[in-house]
Amino acid sequence: MSITVRAAAKINLHLGVGRVREDGFHPLDTVYQAVSLYDDVTVSQGTEESVSVSGSSSIDVRDVPTDTSNIAMRALAEVPCSSRHVVRIDKAIPVAGGMAGGSADAAAALLAHDRLHGLAQPDAVLLEQAARLGSDVPFSLVGGTARGRGRGEVVEPIADEGAWWWVVVPSGVGLSTPDVYRHFDRLFPDAPPQPDEPTELLAALASREPLRLARALHNDLQEPAVDLRPELGVLIALGEVEGALRGLVSGSGPTVVFLCESADGARATAAGLAGAGHDVVLTATGPVAGAHVVS
Ligand code: C5P
Repeated sequence: MSITVRAAAKINLHLGVGRVREDGFHPLDTVYQAVSLYDDVTVSQGTEESVSVSGSSSIDVRDVPTDTSNIAMRALAEVPCSSRHVVRIDKAIPVAGGMAGGSADAAAALLAHDRLHGLAQPDAVLLEQAARLGSDVPFSLVGGTARGRGRGEVVEPIADEGAWWWVVVPSGVGLSTPDVYRHFDRLFPDAPPQPDEPTELLAALASREPLRLARALHNDLQEPAVDLRPELGVLIALGEVEGALRGLVSGSGPTVVFLCESADGARATAAGLAGAGHDVVLTATGPVAGAHVVS
């Protein structure tokens, strides 16, 4: 028997970052949205532990480890269990792109393992296991639109009746999340201990008006990411010329996302960016569900 769980990519609609904590993490006040780019993780029992990774044509999976350091394998190691598992990951979320692809795989592996063995652990237990694996992993379980606090792992769902259209432009070369946070520390040594609250963003979400949401999007990691990779700033400006309401670095980057007015608007912006020479231009909608069993 095998179980396949699907988990979505995330965009941070608001990413407020405070001064680095004693434990090396940064206090966050963020609003996550799960969007319709998915990794599928299949877990079955086997005689030896193994993990294999494949990807859609637009995804370069060469940098994803296929040993016990793979985050899906680390997720299974979090759960006390005497069985050995074979894990297959089919990726469509950009790798090292600031869209929580690894976190999605970890969340999917935790849920698949739980269902494979009929454990039916309470959500609180899965969320605790998820938080030990990474700051974004609890959100990958929850999905939808949610506020994240602490280091991002304390997640509270937000009602979001909007249907938001995004254009997603991954970069050929990943950007290291710790490097971007370290650059934030260099640029903003006096960042406040408590990050900014997303007050206007929450009001914009409730309004369901794309233009209002576009104006309220905010990412404190954008300046460090663009400073490290100036071409991201050029890409943001280009997408806005091509009709997007607003471009934004996704999380720590280097993926850039564009909020569009409508499905047609997203298609037009995507066509414009592809015409300008960007090889991989994806379209996604949000919010979508968190990790869920598909077979
Ligand atoms: O928790 P996660 O494994 O996703 O974090 C990866 C790295 O990103 C951390 O080791 C840390 O350098 C940085 N980080 C941070 N503050 C956060 C989340 C992540 O500094 N709130």
